[in-house]
Amino acid sequence: MAVLITGGAGYIGSHTCIELLNAGYEIVVVDNYINSKQESLKRVGIITGKDFKIYNVDLLDAVGLENVFVENNIEAVIHFAGLKAVGESVILPLWYYHNNITSTVILCNIMKRFDVKNLVFSSSATVYGIPDRFPVSEGFPLRAMNPYGRTKLMIEEILRDLYESDHSWSIALLRYFNPIGAHGSGLIGEDPNGIPNNLMPFITQVAVGKLNELSVYGNNYPTIDGTGVRDYIHVVDLAAGHVRALEKVSKFTGVDAFNLGTGKGYSVLELVSAFEKAIGINIPFKIVNPRPGDAPICFADPSKAKRELGWVAEKDIEEMCEDSWRWQANNPNGYNNHSELLAEIESPRLLKNSGDFLFNRVH
Ligand code: NAD
Ligand code: WQD
Repeated sequence: MAVLITGGAGYIGSHTCIELLNAGYEIVVVDNYINSKQESLKRVGIITGKDFKIYNVDLLDAVGLENVFVENNIEAVIHFAGLKAVGESVILPLWYYHNNITSTVILCNIMKRFDVKNLVFSSSATVYGIPDRFPVSEGFPLRAMNPYGRTKLMIEEILRDLYESDHSWSIALLRYFNPIGAHGSGLIGEDPNGIPNNLMPFITQVAVGKLNELSVYGNNYPTIDGTGVRDYIHVVDLAAGHVRALEKVSKFTGVDAFNLGTGKGYSVLELVSAFEKAIGINIPFKIVNPRPGDAPICFADPSKAKRELGWVAEKDIEEMCEDSWRWQANNPNGYNNHSELLAEIESPRLLKNSGDFLFNRVH
């Protein structure tokens, strides 16, 4: 029995693959690498010393995806695959609706046909829009502010309808707050294309000298120093939350949403200071206009995940900064160039196997 990981080559998916493999799960990854590199999965193999199957399949390709279910004994799905850039979704809404929503409908149809009804879905705190109270709990009103956010909200609703139509489904909607950090090995991490949209990859690229200075979007919010406040969560903690959610969906039927956050908010300037302190590098910044659509403050009430999944985030802001930096410093060009660190480790051997890829560690 295996767990299918869609979008497993991506930032959160690759870290979750490690947690699942370390917990003894067999996994099968599907990704079309639209926003990732196969190299991340190679490194997952190196870190864990485990083999797993990888399919280069677009989730919109129903025949290709069905073949994955034919060739493997899938028992559950963790569905990460999706496009996630807010600004891009405003410019290309149809692409976002098609890629994120149509693919989820295709996936669920195939799951239904193969009687696989345990699903963990990557939702987002973005479904809360601009919350007016804090911390944000799961019962708060949902009001996404952009096409990307609406894809998450619509998928949540589709999955609720699916459960209503058939109570044998078991679905966890995981609403991530702001994942940052990287695996402690420094081998995998977030590898954005072009200039990063998100705060932490921007800071690390300034620190490594690829960007000159950080633009801080507004300093007039009702927060400790006027800059926006967010709930930053270490990606390894977030990945561990998926293992707990998988255990939950394997034991109960239903559909339920869970916040995955730390419950603590940090302002932009607090994060910059924490990074400078942890790393010892100064981050030059300038204050610019607020980014349209940004919430002034957003942090989670994660007590439901603690109560019902037995999960809490353990890593603090210092570790998030250190691990983000280790990844960036060792891989200044992300997965595009092999790091010196990796060169010291035995290189993985790629075995091509009738359309699937299987990575083996060379001993
Ligand atoms: P990511 O872009 O690194 O990973 C997504 C993966 O999905 C990529 O490997 C991409 O190639 C793949 N993919 C996209 N469309 C596909 C398709 N049609 N077929 C096959 N593969 C496809 O993003 P991430 O940060 O790892 O996020 C994972 C999930 O979590 C996404 O659904 C995202 O919306 C959600 N999420 C992310 C954040 C965040 O800040 N990173 C926050 C909340 C929610
Ligand atoms: C954090 C804070 C910015 C960049 C986004 C998506 C959300 C989710 C996570 C997927 C804010 C400030 C940022 C910069 C800055 N993704 N900032 N300068 O906006 O909370 O969430 O990513 O679901 O949907 O909207 O994260 O990292 O972009 O911003 O001052 O160059 O940093 O204003 O206060 P955000 P972020």
